[in-house]
Amino acid sequence: MTGVGRLQGKAAVITGAASGIGRAAAVLFAMEKAKLVLADLDEAALQETLGMVKKEGGEAIIKKTNVALEQEMKELIDLAIKQYGRVDILCNNAGITGHMTDLERQDADDWLKVFNVNVMGAVFGTKHVAAHMQERRSGAIVNTASVAGVRSGAGGNAYSASKAAIINFTQTSACDLGGYNVRVNAVCPGLIETGMTKPVFDYARKVGKEEKLGSRCELRRYGLPVEVAYAILFLASDEASYITGQALPVDGGNTASLNLPGMKV
Ligand SMILES: NC(=O)c1ccc[n+]([C@@H]2O[C@H](COP(=O)([O-])OP(=O)(O)OC[C@H]3O[C@@H](n4cnc5c(N)ncnc54)[C@H](O)[C@@H]3O)[C@@H](O)[C@H]2O)c1
Repeated sequence: MTGVGRLQGKAAVITGAASGIGRAAAVLFAMEKAKLVLADLDEAALQETLGMVKKEGGEAIIKKTNVALEQEMKELIDLAIKQYGRVDILCNNAGITGHMTDLERQDADDWLKVFNVNVMGAVFGTKHVAAHMQERRSGAIVNTASVAGVRSGAGGNAYSASKAAIINFTQTSACDLGGYNVRVNAVCPGLIETGMTKPVFDYARKVGKEEKLGSRCELRRYGLPVEVAYAILFLASDEASYITGQALPVDGGNTASLNLPGMKV
């Protein structure tokens, strides 16, 4: 356990905790002494995350949850309050990409599936934790958006639109809850090696183009889940006590540049 207790005494709920960024956040939060409720659709992988958290000496429970279903998100928040008597932090992190098809071949079902997980999951979580946090006049919500929600080029139309929606929901819910000392922020990861991006990484490695991965961002490399988790930790912690309604890129400088082809050495 190498943390310094930045989340000592706090209880946190993290969705999408069975893999990638959510798993990294779970382990990091445990190292910083938060008590955890970890949620995901994938129960077996969630068990693995629990093992990693326990290895760090962390305290956690897991709950199989489909974030797209309001009742399941309500039950998740209720469980956390029952277990620890409080929820100080909610990380709405679960997400899916949806299909990457040409615009003219996209169907409403795929768009709705992406929006139900990426947008409504965060809406349901925020809705059901809001009264509790308002009453305690304390809380921090961190949504995992994406650079895809800021500019085109990092995902399909539905995925990008869903991430733009979550950035905007971060702003509107921050305004709704700010008067209660409840902060709402987002992180916008660039290309990170996780379960979601595995096909891209596998393909690049297979065709010998690994050096291309992340090469168009200013740091000229892809990111690691823990590098996003550290940004989530900061926004969730009291160190970010005067920050709300913001969407922080964690993208190696990707969104800082127009990155015009042929303009880089
Ligand atoms: N990896 C990247 O490059 C990248 C970039 C920008 C944003 N993001 C965002 O980061 C977040 C985490 O994704 P990741 O990259 O760690 O991918 P991941 O696939 O490794 O993890 C996502 C997790 O969400 C879970 N999940 C999916 N649908 C769910 C549902 N309906 N209910 C509950 N859990 C569900 C999955 O089972 C999985 O464990 C997502 O919101 C994603 O959009 C990722």
